[in-house]
Amino acid sequence: MSQRQPGSHKFKQVKPHKVSSRYMRPRWERFVSQDINGMMLIEGVPIDKIMEKYGTPLYVLVESEIRSRLKRFKKVFGTNIALQYAVKCNSNLEILRMVREEGFELDCSSVGELILGLLADFKPKQLTFTNLFKTEQDIHFAIKIGVQSITADSIEEIEHIAKTAKKLRKHIDTVIRVNPMFELGSYSTKGNKYGIPLKYVERGVDLARKSPYVDFKGFHFMGGYVYNPRVFKIAARIFAKLIRQCLDKGIRVQSLSLGGGFPAAIGEEEAFPIERMKDFPKYFERLMHRYDIPPLQLIFEPGKSIVLNAGIGLMKVISKKRLGKSSRMVIADGSTYNFIPDALVQSTVKYDILPASKMNERRIHTVTIAGNTCDCWDLIRQGIDMPKLRSGDLLAAMDVGAYAQVMSSNFNTIRRPGMIMLYADGTAKLIRRRDRYSEMFAPELDVLKMAGPDELEKYHNMYRVNIDKIWKGKMKKDSRGKNGQTGQDRDSLTKLSVYKMIEKDAVLENGKKKK
Ligand SMILES: Cc1ncc(COP(=O)(O)O)c(C=O)c1O
Repeated sequence: MSQRQPGSHKFKQVKPHKVSSRYMRPRWERFVSQDINGMMLIEGVPIDKIMEKYGTPLYVLVESEIRSRLKRFKKVFGTNIALQYAVKCNSNLEILRMVREEGFELDCSSVGELILGLLADFKPKQLTFTNLFKTEQDIHFAIKIGVQSITADSIEEIEHIAKTAKKLRKHIDTVIRVNPMFELGSYSTKGNKYGIPLKYVERGVDLARKSPYVDFKGFHFMGGYVYNPRVFKIAARIFAKLIRQCLDKGIRVQSLSLGGGFPAAIGEEEAFPIERMKDFPKYFERLMHRYDIPPLQLIFEPGKSIVLNAGIGLMKVISKKRLGKSSRMVIADGSTYNFIPDALVQSTVKYDILPASKMNERRIHTVTIAGNTCDCWDLIRQGIDMPKLRSGDLLAAMDVGAYAQVMSSNFNTIRRPGMIMLYADGTAKLIRRRDRYSEMFAPELDVLKMAGPDELEKYHNMYRVNIDKIWKGKMKKDSRGKNGQTGQDRDSLTKLSVYKMIEKDAVLENGKKKK
């Protein structure tokens, strides 16, 4: 199994205890528990042990949860409906590999995502390419590798694809993205930026069919955030009528993608389980029968509903301060930019932040949890009730498996966190390491050539010294009473030795270790 690969580490699992409902939500019950002292366990592994091994901030993805969600989708939709994982929501290669193993194809939205798909051993015919507009170069790439289809999002894009394919003298299978312009309660596709509004679609289809190198294959629905499974039924009905109109004009329609947008719970907001769609395959079959539509390939493109709830962001409290009489701030070594970047654009989204090393303790006061960047928007959670937190305590940002790492940035020139996959047997596998300064600076250094790799390595080595280890080691020796120093002497000696060790660890510009 994959977890035995190099780079993996087997943690000792400990006896799990139930977490109080004060912190727990049913959606984490399968993989989150706590030890007797209130330390959060993920798959039975104490998170302080994870932190010791991999450091913080860190993303932890729970393998069994991702697999279980992939399997649940397969079970609900059966083998006749194609499922294409939306790479944009978490493009980690290990996740793509798992997705392939579970029989999914990929919905890619850029050339970069197509390349990732190929690196994860998908066949080009298992990749679709959908975004707002593709450049000539994008189209050339898609044709060259031979993708399943590309999606045209506008009349202008159909014209552009037609022109480019003609220039290249290559055929390209193309589907048209349609905005069906409907509402259901608070759900509405009307203001959405994607697709061709229903009343102009006929023009789009005619245009595609007139273009000698565009092979029209079918339609695509833009989804959005779907709160109610009925949305997909309404969309299916609108598309069935559209397909019937095409057939009446002698136009064959071979595929229909009803897109993604299946919900996933964040904070208090719950989401419908995918099992609520289990009658959909039969419903669609009846619809096809009613409109006398010959068999076509139906596709769904789930993204966040597969991975969001399987991701946990671990952080450490590094300090705290008072902003006034009743205003407390806790400072974490993670940031909104690392773990919940979409909260910066959607202020209504409130992620659960748990006191992960104090799950036994009550919420006693209201705090603001601030991220460590020099940006006043970087407030991970405002007004959250927490136990008394101190430096070294651990925090867990829940439900951060989607649209988090892929949207995170190096803002403040901070390295983005690493990511591990945690298996049910307690094995962890590093699936993305923390950024390196060398690669963060490379786009500028490559062109400006202001420093060489050795100079960078010097700073890198200076930083990567494990201060905790040095400090502890030295303190142990000192506490044996060597030379009878006072506490203060010991402190200054220890600091001196830290600097010395940093120096020793630094690699000089000529690449040799300092003597
Ligand atoms: C074409 C397409 N498919 C699938 C998705 C996945 O959506 P979600 O992660 O909401 O399931 C998106 C999201 O933007 C999309 O644009």
